[in-house]
Amino acid sequence: MTAPLRPTEPITVPVALGARAYEIVIGRGLVASLGERIKTLRPGARAAIVSDETVARFHLGAVEAALKSAGIDSAHIIVPAGEGSKNYATFETVCEAIIGARVERNDLIVALGGGVIGDLAGFAASCVRRGLDFVQVPTTLLAQVDSSVGGKTGINSRQGKNLIGAFHQPVLVVADTALLDTLPKREFCAGYAEVAKYGLLGDAAFFSWLEKNWQGVFAGGDSSRGLAREHAIAVCCRAKAAIVARDERETGERALLNLGHTFGHALEAGCGFSDRLLHGEAVALGMALAFEFSAQKGLLTASEAARATAHLAAVGLPTHLKDVRGGVPAVDALMDLIAQDKKVKRGTLTFILVRGIGRAFIENNVDAAEVRKFLEHKLASA
Ligand SMILES: NC(=O)c1ccc[n+]([C@@H]2O[C@H](COP(=O)([O-])OP(=O)(O)OC[C@H]3O[C@@H](n4cnc5c(N)ncnc54)[C@H](O)[C@@H]3O)[C@@H](O)[C@H]2O)c1
Ligand SMILES: [Zn+2]
Repeated sequence: MTAPLRPTEPITVPVALGARAYEIVIGRGLVASLGERIKTLRPGARAAIVSDETVARFHLGAVEAALKSAGIDSAHIIVPAGEGSKNYATFETVCEAIIGARVERNDLIVALGGGVIGDLAGFAASCVRRGLDFVQVPTTLLAQVDSSVGGKTGINSRQGKNLIGAFHQPVLVVADTALLDTLPKREFCAGYAEVAKYGLLGDAAFFSWLEKNWQGVFAGGDSSRGLAREHAIAVCCRAKAAIVARDERETGERALLNLGHTFGHALEAGCGFSDRLLHGEAVALGMALAFEFSAQKGLLTASEAARATAHLAAVGLPTHLKDVRGGVPAVDALMDLIAQDKKVKRGTLTFILVRGIGRAFIENNVDAAEVRKFLEHKLASA
């Protein structure tokens, strides 16, 4: 017999940003309490829910019902699913729809979706009427551990990703882990790369825990099956919240969160941001390369780098260039993409390197020629 699903005690993670402080609440079945939480935070507020077509099909009904049961009037604005919606045209549609729904200064935007919706709806919230409050209800693992926390919002420019945007913190993040049950396995796995990232960059004990408990994180389930998923998400949110509280605008330490992203972004761009390589998959591959590159520089042993890579591979993430369907660009193109992503200063690049698992640091003086040689070697053996 299957045990009945019961909501578990939520975990609360505070984000300490002074006047802009807010809470991340994590737990299974939390959407049911969304209306009450919003009512407590902003009595009398109305809400406009922004979502994408896929997420809306699965979860809009429950969110609307939760708001209604708390007496909150809501409108919904649904955009096509996918990265393509982070463009000017959709941004305009969302802003006009928010105004059309007569959302006023004391009302709220609810971003119901993955990172695309969080970034798009958050940016619209930052602009309409010179700034509306918004609540994040992240529905992908990536969004629950990364994009919904920290206040980066925006859309893509024709010249690059996330180039138009604003820092705009949410007033509340409700991470309902049951929403992830409808997420395709490949998307969940890609989001897991960001989970592993927190262990690899600054928390060796968490990384060891993940090596033992990752199956529980993937399985999810009610409290009778353990709370591995909730625990993992909470650890990631605590880590991100601490970094963001110390460096909200990425003038220093926040850059550590880019572990694996310099190589990763170049590979992602090289695949045309297509479904040949999802963001998290590119990050997994980028982290494997960052560990190997660091080992080659003598910063850590090859066996410790291999341990990091082995875990990513064990959960099903790509860790070798040959894992990328359709292949990757040649070294010249990759180096151009790396140079575009991170400013090159007199032949040196900024990279997040590692001295071991959980020991990442920012290195501003990486020789571009050395990176090139490393990639040439990797491509030759791919
Ligand atoms: N703001 C930040 O700090 C930050 C950080 C990392 C990434 N991002 C951004 O996040 C975006 C990627 O986010 P993402 O990976 O969540 O992508 P996404 O929002 O496109 O979601 C991935 C896919 O899963 C579907 N989906 C979402 N939730 C679902 C659910 N519960 N059930 C079934 N299907 C569901 C979506 O419709 C979409 O097709 C990128 O645009 C990236 O730039 C932002
Ligand atoms: Zn990322």
